[in-house]
Amino acid sequence: MKKGKFITFEGCEGSGKSTQLSLFKNYLEENKIDYIFVREPGGTAISEKIRSLILDVNNKEMTSECEALLYASARAQLVKEKILPALEEGKLVFCDRFIDSSFAYQAYARGLGMDYVSSINSYAINNCMPDCTLFLNISPDEAFKRKGGADASDRLEQVGIEFHRKVFLGYTDLADKNPSRIEKINCLGTREQTHLNIINALKTRGVL
Ligand SMILES: Nc1ncnc2c1ncn2[C@@H]1O[C@H](COP(=O)(O)OP(=O)(O)OP(=O)(O)O)[C@@H](O)[C@H]1O
Ligand SMILES: [Mg+2]
Repeated sequence: MKKGKFITFEGCEGSGKSTQLSLFKNYLEENKIDYIFVREPGGTAISEKIRSLILDVNNKEMTSECEALLYASARAQLVKEKILPALEEGKLVFCDRFIDSSFAYQAYARGLGMDYVSSINSYAINNCMPDCTLFLNISPDEAFKRKGGADASDRLEQVGIEFHRKVFLGYTDLADKNPSRIEKINCLGTREQTHLNIINALKTRGVL
């Protein structure tokens, strides 16, 4: 039986997920809250190998279907090896990206559609949906400006701003359709302001 809570961080590249997760780590430690952090794709030895395959700039011929199935495989391993055991021990589990990344990137931006992506992911996660998803609500244009340009070593960051705009629209649509699970976080201010917005949202939702 699941006893802990599962919280995911979502948003476009450069929206500040990793920055916020590391600020959050301090909060959890100061408040002596039992937690684990994992990231996607990755988080286990096998999933990290799948991650390098997906993000390899040489894999230009990878089809959208292959990519979607690889993400789902990495996720299946992460859920069973790390997330479910931690939830069973009553921990808070924080994940940097999860199923909504597949919805926003593969279903919306790559155009595979929600039916295809939901169906392969239902095998992968086996009902392990996040209790709460924090969507860092900043457009890719704003995020890239803040970050100072794309990172050339990452295949996904080379696809161009149009692709990232589709991802953002996907996230916005998902958040609008799933308000009880997905919280839109205002992240246009400083890192510290965004951090407070996240803590407030989690308190309001009874996670903290
Ligand atoms: N509120 C903020 N104000 C200014 N700069 C910020 C803010 N939040 C994050 N940044 C900066 O934006 C950049 C991207 O942040 P970060 O790496 O946390 O994003 P990410 O969502 O984890 O991206 P990715 O999807 O590529 O992993 C970093 O250089 C970070 O320092
Ligand atoms: Mg990151």
